[in-house]
Amino acid sequence: ATACGGGGGGGQGGDDTIVLGFSQVGAESGWRTANTESIKKAAEEAGIELKFSDAQQQQENQIQAIRSFIQQGVDVIAFSPVVESGWDTVLAEAKTAGIPVVLTDRAVDTDQKEVYETFLGSDFVEEGRKAGRWLVEEYADSDEDVDIVELQGTTGSAPAIDRKEGFAEIIGEDDRFEIVASQDGDFTRSGGQEVMQAFLSSHDDIDVLYAHNDDMALGAIESIEAAGLEPGEDIKIISVDGIKDAFQAMADGRINVVVECNPLIGPQLMNLVEKVHAGEEVEPRVEVEEGVFTQDQAEEELPNRKY
Ligand code: AHR
Repeated sequence: ATACGGGGGGGQGGDDTIVLGFSQVGAESGWRTANTESIKKAAEEAGIELKFSDAQQQQENQIQAIRSFIQQGVDVIAFSPVVESGWDTVLAEAKTAGIPVVLTDRAVDTDQKEVYETFLGSDFVEEGRKAGRWLVEEYADSDEDVDIVELQGTTGSAPAIDRKEGFAEIIGEDDRFEIVASQDGDFTRSGGQEVMQAFLSSHDDIDVLYAHNDDMALGAIESIEAAGLEPGEDIKIISVDGIKDAFQAMADGRINVVVECNPLIGPQLMNLVEKVHAGEEVEPRVEVEEGVFTQDQAEEELPNRKY
């Protein structure tokens, strides 16, 4: 690779090929699988040499991968941080090595300035707000109390922190809504299934499930059905992501609403990688556009879903 512009860390391709080290969170969800495919395909299409590493949802694996990318002298490092905090040291190491870093999907929490070039990802707080707004609207004509259980994503991760915050902000404006239980289901189907089972055994009258992603919602549906209840009817279900399986569940009446979170950000990521490598100015924050889908749209939308 050429060390062109202000970006290059030297690279090792020996030609003009940009070498990108990418550390992925893991393979915890349908969203993540689609995200990984999008990144691999976009790298190939852009002629970028991708060194891909799966952290299996462990921060220490990601730190190790980033250090190895630094050692190999890649041109650009991109990663989707498992959790928000604890990145200062390794990001400073990349900076010292002169390798630009692009954050994708999840943000980091840092006081250090200019340790990464840009962050490409969704507005998770807004996703939580969208979920909350749907719920407030759904109960607009009722004066009953609404007991909510919340399946949180991985503890300490940006989407779990932010989706909780945005949702709480909206429902907090009306004291009929109460989150009676909230626990980590790690963004996985098995996590959703197990935690929902525990919720059901300790709470008699759950009205609503707010799941921070589709996989946990789909796992929870299994527990709701095993308890002899009808998901979508006896317990309303709000989910986030918009994977095909969730759209199918929505079309079948088992999920009530899905707030979209788009994983197909590979092309945008490669574009930013090329720019930072060339030393071009990039926006510090690039957002992904997303919608909200309800049961009445599910059937029609299903064939259009790309993930
Ligand atoms: O960071 C995005 C989140 O991570 C997705 O909503 C979830 O499915 C994934 O595991």
